[in-house]
Amino acid sequence: MPTHITTQCSIDNYPLQLHKLERLSNWLLKECAVPDHDVSIVLVDDRLIRELNNNYRKKDTPTNVLSFPFSEGADLSSLAQIPVKELGDIVISLETAAREAIQFNHTFHQRLSWLLIHGMLHLQGFDHERSKSDEKIMFSREQEILAKLNKKRGQQMNHLAINVDHIATIRQARGITEPDPVAAAAICELAGAAGIVIHLREDRRHIQDRDVYLLRETIKTKMNLEMGANKAIIKIALEVQPDLVTLVPEKRQELTTEGGLDIVTQKKKIAKTIEKLGKGLIPVSLFLDPDKEQIAVASEIGATFVELHTGRYCDAFSEQDQLHEFELIEEAAEYAVSLGLRVNAGHGLNYQTTARIAALETIEELSIGHAIIARAAFTGLDTAVRDMLKIVASAKSSL
Ligand code: PXP
Repeated sequence: MPTHITTQCSIDNYPLQLHKLERLSNWLLKECAVPDHDVSIVLVDDRLIRELNNNYRKKDTPTNVLSFPFSEGADLSSLAQIPVKELGDIVISLETAAREAIQFNHTFHQRLSWLLIHGMLHLQGFDHERSKSDEKIMFSREQEILAKLNKKRGQQMNHLAINVDHIATIRQARGITEPDPVAAAAICELAGAAGIVIHLREDRRHIQDRDVYLLRETIKTKMNLEMGANKAIIKIALEVQPDLVTLVPEKRQELTTEGGLDIVTQKKKIAKTIEKLGKGLIPVSLFLDPDKEQIAVASEIGATFVELHTGRYCDAFSEQDQLHEFELIEEAAEYAVSLGLRVNAGHGLNYQTTARIAALETIEELSIGHAIIARAAFTGLDTAVRDMLKIVASAKSSL
């Protein structure tokens, strides 16, 4: 294997996916026309990279990446002439990468990927510190590689579905006819939403039966009906024929859906509901915590999708907790895909927390409501939707 990765610090606290890093590195070697060369990636902490930065560059501070070319001074054309097929070492500080991921609102893997591309270009003789024109050359090559990578990943773009429940919440606060979620759904679609989500609760606190029937006629994209596994609501779903039903746990006292469904203990009931809806040709998604045991049961009982609950990730108090929750979602999504399930995600996502989740290749659609409706009160719904769409689109294209 041309890529060798070693770690010289504890990696337990990072959502590190070495196989993805290795895959990217091997792809980069091919892209840079040196597929037969070896490269060594060394993952370190700030203490070690600071020491190296001081020893080799006389800069006594940590940095994000350092490159040590095997053939110092060689450029792309002379590299091919050198008999030893060794590019050199790329040293990356995981600590700095984690800090920068937060700063740039990237996933940890996105940031590592960018650092790897940067380091790899240095190994091939590019040097942005040499002169203004060298900076331009290196920057444009970096952009070229990123564009190719984005194109490769372009097919995996995920979509934004908007939950319009809280338009109905405002209407119900007065018990009158406006604002109307039917009109809101149309505005969301015109702004670029890929689907509309509504939750018909047993207590009808926001969405009413009339909304469900009217929306079925007006929605041009996809209707995702969230509901509890309740007989009367299943009957409505079978009549309305949404494009997707998402089964959620429902408690009358809760302010919003508080956690994922527990399908391990309710396996029979949920399996029966999936079967009933399946007879009506309605695919079913199960709203689950990022828990492998639950996901395995979802696959066993015939769910088409799982929607991973992002609430704990969004509510995490410290950056470390948030990273941990993110990692759980990332792993759960990969596991679900490996079982043949399709994956959506949602709950609590806002303009700060969405980018990382949107960057995950395994997730097809995000379901977002409250944050968009809340912003709409100040900016208008069209702008609020477009602002979120920009985040979703750039999360994918940033690696
Ligand atoms: N997904 C599910 C299953 C939900 O129950 C909700 C809340 O209705 C959402 C997504 C959207 O959550 P939020 O309104 O916090 O964006």
